[in-house]
Amino acid sequence: MIATDSPKAGTRPITEEDDSVKINSMDHVEFWVGNAKQAVFFWSHLGFKPVAYSGLETGNRRYASYVLQQNKIRFVVTSAYDPHDEISAHCMLHGDGVKAIAMSVDDVEATYNETLKRGAEGLKPPAEYRDDSGTLYSAEIKCYGQTVVRFVDRSRYDGPFMPGYVPMTWTKDVEPAGLEAIDHMVGNVELGKMNYWVDWFHRVLGFRQIVHYDDKVIHTEYSALMSKVMANGNGRIKFPINEPAEGRKKSQIEEYLDYYYGPGVQHVAMLTGDIISTVRKLRDQGIEFLRVPQSYYDALPGRIGEINESYKDIAELGILADRDDEGYLLQIFTRPIQDRPTVFLEIIQRRGSRGFGVGNFKALFESIEIEQARRGNL
Ligand code: FE2
Repeated sequence: MIATDSPKAGTRPITEEDDSVKINSMDHVEFWVGNAKQAVFFWSHLGFKPVAYSGLETGNRRYASYVLQQNKIRFVVTSAYDPHDEISAHCMLHGDGVKAIAMSVDDVEATYNETLKRGAEGLKPPAEYRDDSGTLYSAEIKCYGQTVVRFVDRSRYDGPFMPGYVPMTWTKDVEPAGLEAIDHMVGNVELGKMNYWVDWFHRVLGFRQIVHYDDKVIHTEYSALMSKVMANGNGRIKFPINEPAEGRKKSQIEEYLDYYYGPGVQHVAMLTGDIISTVRKLRDQGIEFLRVPQSYYDALPGRIGEINESYKDIAELGILADRDDEGYLLQIFTRPIQDRPTVFLEIIQRRGSRGFGVGNFKALFESIEIEQARRGNL
């Protein structure tokens, strides 16, 4: 691990003073998908409950959209009725994927104007949305590929999501899986574009770089990638940016870019306070995770030392572990969540460590390569 701007990677102090464009936290993540109604069933198996709906029955003649919630995590899945809609075109090109990374701000208009002054490309100027539950403010700027950053202020809004959406009751009971908040969201960008987007997050949104992993660290026999992690002022939002690096074969980042037809969100990592129970629940629900070889578990106690969890449970469930100066973390990755080998999810539990599991990158990438080879893409 190489820290470009601090003596120890991941330990650069997180201070409010860096927060020159004040962004508070993640508000929601919106996926544009081929069939939102069926996506709701998928997310319910991860413990997400549908809480709001917009569609024909609510007077929305353009798209069907469902809001799914678990603790502080809010996902929105949306599909269009019209084949000529921008949403349909997005799905045709990219498959299902993340359209909007929505962040909560105190003042949408000030934030939007400030980011434009700093070089952002505005897509949707600040607008007010009103109904009986109050007023919600929102605006959008362009991010990598066709992904947008959306600013949201819901401090004067009481409804289930935003005007146009109604509360939704569902016939099925959804048992939460213990997922609490979004820990980080990773973007894949083209070869040679990582530094552009690192600079963009710094210049436009006031984020700062907290870690840099170069291709000497993140590589296998066949492929490599580089990654830099950007964080907002209060440190709650972390966006690693990956680009492929030269390798003997096609890297997983190139596979993503080929199938997503451009840059986009690679994975969303969600925090749990008890990864053993979360992963057990998700496996029971049929969620598929990547597996690393048994040899990984033979070496693990020697590498990580004493932990609160049982190594037997960890090996049985296929969970990965990593340790640094501050503590350790436990993590696991799902298989892609749609047909194309693009977006996947990570479940992470932090026990002191603020890292991203660099010690697991090699084992993890080798297991991704086995799957890539199976797809005929290595
Ligand atoms: Fe991650």
